[in-house]
Amino acid sequence: MDQSLSLKYDMLVPRYTSYPTAPHFNESVTGAVYADWLRALPADTDLSLYFHIPFCDSMCWFCGCYTKIVKRYEPVAGYLEVVLDEIDLVADTLPARFAASHLHWGGGSPTMLTGEDWMRILDKLRARFDVTADAEVAVELDPRTATEDYVRALSAAGVNRASIGVQDFHPEVQAAINRIQPYDMTRRVVDWLRGNGIPDLNMDLLYGLPHQTVDRVVDMVDKAVTLAPARIALFGYAHVPWMKSHQKMIHEADLPGTEARWRQFEAAADRLVELGYVRIGLDHFALPDDALAVSLRRGRLHRNFQGYTADQAPAMLGFGASAIGYLPQGYVQNISPLKAFRESVEGGTLPIARGFALSDEDRLRRTVIERIMCDLAVDLDDLAPGRDFAAEMARLAPLADDGIVALDGGRITVNADARPFVRLVAAAFDAYLKQGEQRHSKAV
Ligand SMILES: C[S@@+](CC[C@H](N)C(=O)[O-])C[C@H]1O[C@@H](n2cnc3c(N)ncnc32)[C@H](O)[C@@H]1O
Ligand code: SF4
Repeated sequence: MDQSLSLKYDMLVPRYTSYPTAPHFNESVTGAVYADWLRALPADTDLSLYFHIPFCDSMCWFCGCYTKIVKRYEPVAGYLEVVLDEIDLVADTLPARFAASHLHWGGGSPTMLTGEDWMRILDKLRARFDVTADAEVAVELDPRTATEDYVRALSAAGVNRASIGVQDFHPEVQAAINRIQPYDMTRRVVDWLRGNGIPDLNMDLLYGLPHQTVDRVVDMVDKAVTLAPARIALFGYAHVPWMKSHQKMIHEADLPGTEARWRQFEAAADRLVELGYVRIGLDHFALPDDALAVSLRRGRLHRNFQGYTADQAPAMLGFGASAIGYLPQGYVQNISPLKAFRESVEGGTLPIARGFALSDEDRLRRTVIERIMCDLAVDLDDLAPGRDFAAEMARLAPLADDGIVALDGGRITVNADARPFVRLVAAAFDAYLKQGEQRHSKAV
């Protein structure tokens, strides 16, 4: 693939962790609408539950997540009480007691919670939902704040999957992103996790960070693989200082340009494949027997706000400030400011800020976009026989001329070496893209 294409298509497009994407959510979806949607859920719906813990003890300059820096436990403890109440509020609204097969804690840093508080949340969840015996219980974990006691508490609470934030191992890169985390610190946490019966590990790595080079990202991959995670997420650093003002602490002069980002991604991805990992969609890698790789082979890979997933649950309920959930009827997002979030829950109102009610047209486009993002291919004739996609095909024509995508009747296939452009192919089916474009990050 000609690298100059990365410059030609150096545009801002969404990552399509949902469709429509979050900037298009609107305020017509209120707590009352969410309550109606919850009440309409068939009692046998398998649920996925997501919990957002928006606290960290120091700010990484690259961070794009919704989090707040705290130096004391008090605000975290106070927040936990609100989330426990929110669980009751949602469970009281649901028309029955539901099974939950996936529990996921993200942030921010869920490592900010004490072991004791972990037990309280799990107790509450088991009181209000049937957490299935084989449920996946996953936690995002910052190795800088985890202790062995903490990992023991996670294990006791039933956690069986951990996603470890690494980003890069190089000291100069770590200094530039305000995240000092020596390799041995990460290895120690991995050993604790495995020693405490939490074997399923993901590792988050980034490319496109300040001072990263091709050699450094290949070295980063080699170091990560010595720890044998079953999954690796290799994200491109999204530099959006107009949305995240602390990213201004990153000197733009130290950032690799578009072509350099492309080379870094390709080199890291090639190395991972050489080392036995299967490429999953845009930016994930998994060992061949991991559930993500198995789902990909079976055409059952999905994409949600946590990235690529083997989770098949048709509904995800989001808990905590800014958390996003989805139901058959559409998406809902919780209020982000902590005070307003708390006041809503304390007032007995589901703390919804916005959302999106899906039409059948949205659902069709969502399926097309999800299949492109997951399988790098879609057959429009299979998905929507007789439907005219002439406008979308016209949008794809220049990408086909550049060798990014192959068009064969209704069959669209992203070419193997054009994988980093998959978001551009998906964007051809996005009916809402124009209005929110400037809020996204670079395509490559
Ligand atoms: C909530 S954090 C993971 C847990 C924990 N807070 C930590 O950092 O170890 C989620 C992940 O999002 C990714 N991330 C955060 N900001 C990003 C950005 N601006 N661009 C791309 N990826 C980003 C990082 O790889 C990070 O590990
Ligand atoms: S990357 Fe993780 S630890 Fe760093 S500020 Fe963001 S959420 Fe917190």
